[in-house]
Amino acid sequence: MYDLHAHILPGVDDGARSPLETLEMSRAAAASGTKVALATPHRKDVIEDWSIEHVVRLTSDMNAQNAELGVDVSLALGMENHLDAGLPAEIDAGRALPMNGSRYILIEMPFFGRPDYIERALSEVQERGLTPVLAHPERIEAFQREPEMLKKFIERGMLSQITSGSVVGTWGAEVARFTRELLRRRMAHVMASDTHRAKGRRSPNMGVGVEAAARIVGQAAASAMVSDTPLAILEDRPVEVEQPR
Ligand SMILES: [Fe+2]
Repeated sequence: MYDLHAHILPGVDDGARSPLETLEMSRAAAASGTKVALATPHRKDVIEDWSIEHVVRLTSDMNAQNAELGVDVSLALGMENHLDAGLPAEIDAGRALPMNGSRYILIEMPFFGRPDYIERALSEVQERGLTPVLAHPERIEAFQREPEMLKKFIERGMLSQITSGSVVGTWGAEVARFTRELLRRRMAHVMASDTHRAKGRRSPNMGVGVEAAARIVGQAAASAMVSDTPLAILEDRPVEVEQPR
């Protein structure tokens, strides 16, 4: 499996708190069958408190730590980019990282409300040749209220990343119901862990989520969400998706 959303770098955001915790999360990821985890620290934390150089260095240090201790998972670098009107300019300035240097960029919509810059900012990202991968749309109020907006974004070429825990109720029954609706309507392309801790409800283990998704979309499609599709993204290849229903 390939996990495209992981707060696994130590001390940068609300994810791993130390290199030891990064190691424990890496071990848990490897044990559940993940080969590559994309480190996606929150952009705001990286830019305001640290730097791009810092997270680049941490990624290579944590890879060295895993290699030295025989933990068979490698970390790549991305960012969870909060969407605001300034995101396109931040991309131009090199302060908003895409996923592993690819044409894909992980974007988190505001959790609440529906600011009027959303559509414009996303189009401006696309005008730069980047494909937005929308982080956990099932937890975003604007999509919960208006699933057709997500459908429209997908029809315009964007991708959607659901969180494995969402399918099984980590974020409550309503989020679980909406996640299953997104799966049924083929509006979920990638499943990722959004892990923050080695154990518990935000662990790197995507297994239960994949099983639950398989009961809705079938085993092959559920597996593709954690294997073929995220691998294509990491390798900067085109991704073919079904039309949303
Ligand atoms: Fe996240």
